[in-house]
Amino acid sequence: MDHILIKGGYVVDPITNTSDYLDILIEKGKIKKIGKDIKPFAGCQVIDAKDCIVSPSFTDIHVHFRDPGQTYKEDIRTGSMAAVAGGYTTVVCMPNTLPALDDASLIRYVIEKGEEVGLCRVLPAGAITKGRRGKELTEMSLLKDAGAVYFTDDGAPVMDSHIMRKAMEFAGSIGSFVADHCEDLSLSKDGVAHEGEIAAALGLPPLPPEAEDTMIARDCVLSLHTGMPVHICHLSTKVGVEIVTWAKAMGAKVTAEVTPHHLYLTDEEWLDFDCKAKVSPPLREHEDIEAVRWALASGIIDFVATDHAPHAHQEKMMEHHACPPGMIGLQFALPIVLELVRKDYFDINRAIEVLSTKPAEKIGLKPPQIKEGEVAELTIFDPTESWEVTEDVIYSKSKNTPLLGRKLIGKVKYTFYNGKIVYKD
Ligand code: NCD
Ligand code: ZN
Ligand code: ZN
Ligand code: ZN
Repeated sequence: MDHILIKGGYVVDPITNTSDYLDILIEKGKIKKIGKDIKPFAGCQVIDAKDCIVSPSFTDIHVHFRDPGQTYKEDIRTGSMAAVAGGYTTVVCMPNTLPALDDASLIRYVIEKGEEVGLCRVLPAGAITKGRRGKELTEMSLLKDAGAVYFTDDGAPVMDSHIMRKAMEFAGSIGSFVADHCEDLSLSKDGVAHEGEIAAALGLPPLPPEAEDTMIARDCVLSLHTGMPVHICHLSTKVGVEIVTWAKAMGAKVTAEVTPHHLYLTDEEWLDFDCKAKVSPPLREHEDIEAVRWALASGIIDFVATDHAPHAHQEKMMEHHACPPGMIGLQFALPIVLELVRKDYFDINRAIEVLSTKPAEKIGLKPPQIKEGEVAELTIFDPTESWEVTEDVIYSKSKNTPLLGRKLIGKVKYTFYNGKIVYKD
């Protein structure tokens, strides 16, 4: 179909500063016309977007697609399917694969596989250290030339502060940045659940929030002194928010992301002893959740990243020490962010900013825009439709989420990538 008319939707685009009921005519993948009351014509496919919001599509700079090496958990095809079902058209895959993405050929492999699948833009992050062992820096410029959009050892912190400092300086000097999984392993030890009343009551090995907070502080200080950027992965604590607030006020080039699960779930998820609640960093307490929500509203936390971390059913059934941490997230980010709009933490414009505009800008992409002349890259969603999270509606190969059986509000109806419909509800 050469012509698609999206009719009657409420268009929200933070970049073009649009919040209005507008029709969008797409011709051969490009936005030809935006206006009130565009009339359908012969040979034109009409999408009824009444009661829907039409926004630029989303970018997630933190996903685990497990390819190469653990494709029984997820692969680039199933991961891409989950992404577009969640309204995303750009994702950044973490390098904690087997082997780790520490070599230019592996970076190219992920990009090529993503292009082969063709549902969305699949970009890799390169490892900071060889084998993610924390000892020796990778050849970051080669990885960057091959297409790595930033550097991280995610899944593990960079424990050695000297190496982290060198990594920050080097990544910054080539126009890139490092992102850290902030966890002081000497404090987290064999902790499983957030150290608090719940872990104590259930007798679960406690993981103190200081494990995250001290590492955020170290990274902020290193960034301040080197003048180089650092990105804080999956920020989850109220003290972490305060540290980032301080670092930003000092002028450090610090950015931070928060996951949907840290915005929505508490350590009470452990009450049925189900290891689906196990994630790194651990689910926190109410006051942490309040803190990260308000930080996302104020801009102290820059945007949302899902940390979509698929694991097989048998793995999540293991006892709490052996069970790998992580939960899937690509299809839940939008409804969770919309919940915060309904609860008045921020408005719909900020919601689209934290899902779409800000994360795209962070990795140096021109964010998708709803503007005449642009290639159609947009998400159409019904902000009030309620749906139940069941295994059947999850596109990911793994179904590991504590949200199973629960209702969420807000459903993606269509996702357009590169001018084409790549998802339809
Ligand atoms: C991630 C994974 O499974 O790769 N797990 C998690 O709990 N978040 C690793 C990570 O993001 O640290
Ligand atoms: Zn035409
Ligand atoms: Zn991590
Ligand atoms: Zn991760």
